[in-house]
Amino acid sequence: MVSYQEQALSNLQDPSLFIGDAFIDGKWVSKNKKFVVTEPSTGTSLGQVTDCDLEDFKNAILSAKNAQKSYFQDTTGASRGALLRKWYDLIMENKTDIATILCLENGKTFAEALGEVVYAAGFISWFAEEATRAYGVTIPSSTPRTTLLTIREPVGVCAIITPWNFPAAMITRKVGPALAAGNTVVIKPPSETPYTCLALTKLAVEAGLPPAVIQVCPTKNREAATELATNPMVHKISFTGSTAVGEMLAKLATGTLKKVSLELGGNAPFIVFDDADIDLAVEGAMFCKFRCSGQTCVCANRIYVQKGIAKQFTAKLVEKVAALHVGPGLDASTTQGPLVNRAAVEKVASHVQDAVSKGARIEIGGKTPDAAGFFHMPTVLSGVTPSMIVSHEETFGPLAPVIEFETEDEAIRLANDTEFGLAGYFFSRDVSRVLRVGQSLQVGIVGVNTGKVSAPEAPFGGVKESGYGKEGSLYGLEEYQVIKSITIGNW
Ligand code: SIN
Repeated sequence: MVSYQEQALSNLQDPSLFIGDAFIDGKWVSKNKKFVVTEPSTGTSLGQVTDCDLEDFKNAILSAKNAQKSYFQDTTGASRGALLRKWYDLIMENKTDIATILCLENGKTFAEALGEVVYAAGFISWFAEEATRAYGVTIPSSTPRTTLLTIREPVGVCAIITPWNFPAAMITRKVGPALAAGNTVVIKPPSETPYTCLALTKLAVEAGLPPAVIQVCPTKNREAATELATNPMVHKISFTGSTAVGEMLAKLATGTLKKVSLELGGNAPFIVFDDADIDLAVEGAMFCKFRCSGQTCVCANRIYVQKGIAKQFTAKLVEKVAALHVGPGLDASTTQGPLVNRAAVEKVASHVQDAVSKGARIEIGGKTPDAAGFFHMPTVLSGVTPSMIVSHEETFGPLAPVIEFETEDEAIRLANDTEFGLAGYFFSRDVSRVLRVGQSLQVGIVGVNTGKVSAPEAPFGGVKESGYGKEGSLYGLEEYQVIKSITIGNW
């Protein structure tokens, strides 16, 4: 019998985009040692991918170092921009195939996967434009007959370590600015979802990227991240993932004083004040809680609703959740896909169990369906209190805990009572409150009357233990540049 994934792969318009090799020194490399990638809606193998060892990483870094100087010196911002534009065009031409591959390895619905591919391509197009705007300045000198100016130069070799929840967009959000600035990159894609990155790499090469400018080393070897963070030929490390790993990488990178960007865990508060448009707030909660089955760093994790409207809000939220259809991502009727693996399902189940044991009520969901694959039913809990795990730990799954509050001060205190500070949301029609609460939330990204805060032009990054550095936007390029001052004296 033809499996779900075999059937889907046979429908690819360009089957050569499904690649299980590494890309090192401008060549596709296949090795005997491989690891299995699992398709989350069946829990069975999607395919086997080359498992790079530390020697492969060292070779890729050396090759990227050798390629970097000429890549920067023989190109201009405009020509690198044109190259990125060509890559963007190829991604868009192949978006259905890439979305199919992404859907198969990550599990998100096909509509979401397609949305992610377009979102991912948006970073390439954004940084194609930014490549031409890497301005320096001239500075009035305090010394006579002297001119002082600055230029922006690439950092050098950039190590890129990305997560499985956005297999396309987290690659392009980092690689786009790195290449635009004139760097070369060594990518360690997530072992759960390496195929999307490899397909994107093939298209980058087809777009004309010089060999060795982009290197991809899939692996399950945990030591690989240590190699990237300590190798003296690497000058920049950009990581999206857990706070624990981010802190470890930051410590390791200190040894050679690398530039570091970290986009780490979140625990986003989502506050609904009693002056809010309740339907809009429910719509916002549905988007930012259940996008990618609750597996985004900016997902609403704690939903605080003012007492007077809590019952009404919860009832409307439950009605919308009841309409979600759980199933394999590629099925046309599915609006909520599986989670990435068994451990993710168990984490959601354990958060539900803890909350219920401490007095929370399951309004809907609360179960893992009796089916193959890694599913958890979208769940709404009411009566949630600060003593429950859901109130302070990121669930990273389709669980919406509703917590009631009385005053604005209380909501802000609860929202900020966490070591994390990535995103925060609130809904209110009072303009003074919008400004007050917007400034009071200790996060890097605020959504007011919307659950959608991510876009290529929007600065993305956190504060506190959610990390540092901004991705996307007008700030994203400088994370991959150094500012050099040049003083021309005695003229
Ligand atoms: C993330 O979860 O890290 C990324 C989410 C986004 O780009 O919206």
